[in-house]
Amino acid sequence: DKIKALAIDGPAGAGKSTIARAVSHKLGWIYVDTGALFRAAALSLLEQGISPEDSAAISAAAPKLRLDLSIADGVQHVFVDGRDVSGEIRREEIGKAASAFAREDAVRQRVLVIEREIAAREPVVMDGRDIGTVVLPNALAKVFLTASVEVRAKRRTAELREKGTEADFEEVKRDIAARDEQDKNRAVAPLRQAEDALLLDSSALTIAEVEQRILALVREKE
Ligand code: C5P
Repeated sequence: DKIKALAIDGPAGAGKSTIARAVSHKLGWIYVDTGALFRAAALSLLEQGISPEDSAAISAAAPKLRLDLSIADGVQHVFVDGRDVSGEIRREEIGKAASAFAREDAVRQRVLVIEREIAAREPVVMDGRDIGTVVLPNALAKVFLTASVEVRAKRRTAELREKGTEADFEEVKRDIAARDEQDKNRAVAPLRQAEDALLLDSSALTIAEVEQRILALVREKE
């Protein structure tokens, strides 16, 4: 049986969060950014002095991670030990660390519990890397959103500069490519397109066009 959920997976910088947020408004479903949970887990593990290479320490610490997610008026907040870390986790270095810690099964299991709890409670638009393949294999609709590494790096560089952060295009591009490799090649829940997912390459599409195609897909499945 299908559950009322839309899974949006894809590589870093493909525009998943922008699209997922817009589509969730139109559907009246809540938007869940699962990358934020991995980022929060990474932040906490780093603060505990644990390295992404230390599997034993990660396995011991991950089940005890106190992660929480709250969504009010469509805005998601992520908490670690009751502390709101929603701003802090957006740093590039935390994104990098999240990708490294996300290779560990213990971390994935911890996050999986939260992801499934939310999706069981209400209709969701959930974005991530393994939502269609592992987290919600019975989601009503699945999309694999991608774009060329050039386009993704260009968008990410512009976004960083807009926020007042200095960003070098070549460096951003290298980081994105490295994160893709790591996410695609890990043993547990690697980034890949689910068989029943619609593949959308947003390189030459506008946000409105991507949004329209996804809404059409959900309506066709409903
Ligand atoms: O999407 P975002 O850049 O916030 O994700 C940070 C990292 O968290 C990703 O590079 C990926 O390694 C990991 N992640 C994951 N599974 C998800 C969401 C994110 O492994 N569902």
